Amino acid sequence: SDIHSWLAVMPKAELHLHIDGSLQASRLLQLAAKNGVAIPYDSVESVQAAYEFEDLQSFLDLYYLGASVLRDEDDFYWLMRDYLDKCREQKIVHTEIMVEPQTYLPYGVGIHTVMAGFKRAIAEAKAEWGQSALMMLSLLRHLSEDEALAMLEMAEPFRDDFVAIGLASSEMGHPPSKFKTLYETARSRGYKLVAHAGEEGPPEYIWEAIQLLGVDRIDHGVRCVEDPALVAHLVHKQIPLTVCPLSNVRLCVFDRMQDHNLLNMLEQGLCVTVNSDDPTYFGGFMNENFSALADALALSREQAKQLAANSFRASFLPDDIKAQYL
Ligand code: HPA
Ligand code: ZN
Repeated sequence: SDIHSWLAVMPKAELHLHIDGSLQASRLLQLAAKNGVAIPYDSVESVQAAYEFEDLQSFLDLYYLGASVLRDEDDFYWLMRDYLDKCREQKIVHTEIMVEPQTYLPYGVGIHTVMAGFKRAIAEAKAEWGQSALMMLSLLRHLSEDEALAMLEMAEPFRDDFVAIGLASSEMGHPPSKFKTLYETARSRGYKLVAHAGEEGPPEYIWEAIQLLGVDRIDHGVRCVEDPALVAHLVHKQIPLTVCPLSNVRLCVFDRMQDHNLLNMLEQGLCVTVNSDDPTYFGGFMNENFSALADALALSREQAKQLAANSFRASFLPDDIKAQYL
C-alpha cells in the first residue's frame, strides 16, 4: 500500500502536544462568541490566515489569544474531547498532553475548572474507546520561577493527574537554570521531568536541562547537532528528543522540510520521536507530520517503525504496559 495510508494506520504515541495548540479555529470562534471575548477574527478563514509565523514569539501571541476564549468546564471538556477524537482517527494509541493552567489565571479561570473538563473528557475516552492519555503540568518560562512554584502548589490536589512537569513558552532569555528550584521540588514529589530546550535556544540550554534540571526527555532539542559532545551524551544516555517537524518549519527553525535534521538525528542513534506540538496552528496532527517526512525526506517504513517504537519507549507508561506496544 502507499506509504501515507500505511503511516496513517501505524500505531503511535504522541509525547509533545500542547492542548491549547489543538484548539480548532471553529471552536475558537464559537467559544469567543459564547463567552463574549472580543477577538480580531470573524471567520474560520480569517483565523487560519493568521497561521503564518516568523518565529516562536509570533506564534505564541496567537496561541495565547486563542487560549483566552476558554472559560468554563465545558470549554475545557470540548478542547480535550476534540483532540482525543483526533487521536482515535490517527491511530495515536497513547498520548502525553501538556496542560498550562497558568495561561488561564489572568481570566479568572482556576485549575479546578480546567481539570474538571480535561479529566471528564479523558475518563470518557478511556471508558468508551480504551484510549490511553496522561497529562503533564507545563509551566510558562516567560513568567517567574515563583509563579511556577505557586502553580505547582495549586496543582497539588491533582498530583495523581500529572505524570510530569515541563517548561514551555518563550525560550530565548529564559534558560533552564532559571527553574532549578522548581525542578528540584518537582523531583522530590515524584514527578517525571521534561523541558523544551534547543528549539530556538542554543545547545547550552539542552546541557542545562540535562545537568541542572535532570530532565528525562528534551522537547524539540534539534539544535543539539551543533555540539558533537552533546549528541554523544544524548546517544549514550538515550535521552529522548520529542521532535516536531511541521512546528519547526512553521516557526522557521528550518527553512523547508527538506532541510529538517530529524532523520539525520535518527541515523546518529539519537532516541528521536515525531510529534505535532500545536497541530491546529502548524497545519497537521501526527499523520500529517509523518507524511511530510515521507514527502520531503523519503522516510522509509523501517525508519517510521523505529520512530513509533521510540515513542512508546520514551513514554511515561509503566514498563509492563509499554511492553505491550513494543
Ligand atoms: N515552544 C515553546 N512553547 C510552546 C510551543 C513551542 O513549540 N508550543 C506551545 N508552547
Ligand atoms: Zn512544544
